[in-house]
Amino acid sequence: MIDRLKQIKLLTVEKIAELTDFDSLNDLKVKTLGRKGEITMLLRGLKDLIGEERVEAGKVANEIKNTLENLIDRKTIELKTKELEMKLKDERIDISLPGLPLQVGRKHPISMVTEQIKDIFIGMGFSVAEGPEIESDYYNFEALNVPRDHPARDMQDTFYISEEILLRTHTSPVQVRTMERLAPQIPVKIIIPGKVYRKDDDATHSPMFNQVEGLLIDERITFANLKGTLMLFAQKIFGEEVRVRYRPSFFPFTEPSAEMDISCVHCQGQGCRVCSHTGWLEILGAGMVNPRVLQYGGYDPEKVTGFAFGMGIERIAMLKYGINDLRLFFDNDKRFLTQF
Ligand code: PHE
Repeated sequence: MIDRLKQIKLLTVEKIAELTDFDSLNDLKVKTLGRKGEITMLLRGLKDLIGEERVEAGKVANEIKNTLENLIDRKTIELKTKELEMKLKDERIDISLPGLPLQVGRKHPISMVTEQIKDIFIGMGFSVAEGPEIESDYYNFEALNVPRDHPARDMQDTFYISEEILLRTHTSPVQVRTMERLAPQIPVKIIIPGKVYRKDDDATHSPMFNQVEGLLIDERITFANLKGTLMLFAQKIFGEEVRVRYRPSFFPFTEPSAEMDISCVHCQGQGCRVCSHTGWLEILGAGMVNPRVLQYGGYDPEKVTGFAFGMGIERIAMLKYGINDLRLFFDNDKRFLTQF
């Protein structure tokens, strides 16, 4: 019996070593140590033995039983550990993979140019004022000396919300709003950046665009102050060598009125396609504040005078960067926007 036990032990130890899964391990356990297992069966035969032989066989049998039980337990742990390792390997996330690059935002070219224009005028002592984009007929037209049914309204057709409320066609209404707020204080020295709206849509006009307005009111302000201020502005934004000229024009809210041209930034005034071979580019409207507008704002035209100007920011940006279609600013095409 002892030989038989030892044989079983050897075979079982070998099998345990070869096993790679729980099910077979369990089968083996049942087959050897289970209720009807080989060793259990053998042990039943113990009662037929006698004396020394019986004691000896019982001892060996128990030792072998213990050894095998231990081996099986150890194997169980070993298999469990292996299984866990496999699982961890399978579910592993490779955190060393580079992530998707984050796209960093940047300033829109119109914002950049607006900031440059602001800086230039702030440097000359102007401060920044703002006003509503949804404006009343009164501030957009009436108080700027553009009465109802006046033909000058045709120059600036817009989007009406009601008979009295509209999207402002220019930043000029903030002239009167600011005057009302400050009168009779002098000087009034402000610039007004902001969005404006018109019923226009082509390569150089969009239904929404940006303007910067300027307004200076004080004692003894003359057209010379206007020219000096705008000359300095033109040099700062387009370069020292730029030249300017004024052409007589008409705005109901300024008298006299003028349009300012700069020498063509493309051909330096030689004449090219950009300036339609004139050598000049129109960049803004300006003039001495009409006395009636001063009155609307609460100022006495006998005591103070002022100048005002207004320019389209998209136009300045187009000339500065050589852009030929204004709509590019609003298409949200990143290939365009990331060039600035
Ligand atoms: N508001 C005028 C426009 O939009 C520009 C302007 C402003 C002209 C101030 C003169 C004085 O066309």
